[in-house]
Amino acid sequence: MSVRRLAPQELQPESFAFTAENQAWAEKTIAKYPPGRQASAVIPLLMRAQEQAGGWLSEPAMRLVGDMLGMAPIRVYEVATFYTQFQLLPVGKRAHIQVCGTTPCMVRGAGDLINVCKRRIHEEPFHLSKSGDLSWEEVECAGTCVNAPMIQVWRDVYEDLTPEDLENILDAFERGETPKTGPQNGRRSSEPVTGLRVLTEASLYDGSMVGKGEGLAAALAAIAAAKAAAEAPAAEPAAAAAPPAPPKNDPAPAKPPVAEAVKAQGSADATGQAKPGADKPNGVKPS
Ligand code: FES
Repeated sequence: MSVRRLAPQELQPESFAFTAENQAWAEKTIAKYPPGRQASAVIPLLMRAQEQAGGWLSEPAMRLVGDMLGMAPIRVYEVATFYTQFQLLPVGKRAHIQVCGTTPCMVRGAGDLINVCKRRIHEEPFHLSKSGDLSWEEVECAGTCVNAPMIQVWRDVYEDLTPEDLENILDAFERGETPKTGPQNGRRSSEPVTGLRVLTEASLYDGSMVGKGEGLAAALAAIAAAKAAAEAPAAEPAAAAAPPAPPKNDPAPAKPPVAEAVKAQGSADATGQAKPGADKPNGVKPS
């Protein structure tokens, strides 16, 4: 990660103002936030200012955004210098190439892509090519590691790159074209490079199976059964269970259920009959 500072004074424009269209968009964006929270619009407004200015953020643009949001200029500078999506120096008119140099991309050949940028654009990052059309920098992970190595240009990504692919992409930008985005090796999104081996049935994806699956039929049957059970009259309570029969050859007699034994003890207490051992501590019977 390189040090990020505002462009030197000699590169800064005198002033910045949104176009009428962008001004209306900015006001609408600010109005999305509740009173006192207008500063939350700082990132979208800075991004719009950058896009309007040809891909980089000048100090007057940051100051204008701060004025619109009631933010001190330093607060806006903090945001703009933190995110590498904001460019603080003039960039190539046609493309600013951000090469991911984080580990997954580096082990898949990002170093070779950087060498292409050095040879085709400039030996150093953040410098314009001779034509002024291109510039480049190395950035941290851009989030498409599974398609490493990759570059980002404005809002697009170009993935699964070889040095030859990057040469072709740079050629296209120099001709004023927009190259095909995404993986450059023919695979779709991040599917296996060897092709799909599971879930290959086309009807899984064309909607023709909606409402026809066995899973749906089973679910509907289960719902109907649950509804019928809920609407059926309540069943009679089950008769009291008889004490379990002792297993064969069990020397111990079967005991009544605990509830019955407690009831019998309560009846004896009600008659006033003394309990055996009640006149001795610890229930010891008189001799
Ligand atoms: S490491 Fe390069 S995109 Fe994540």
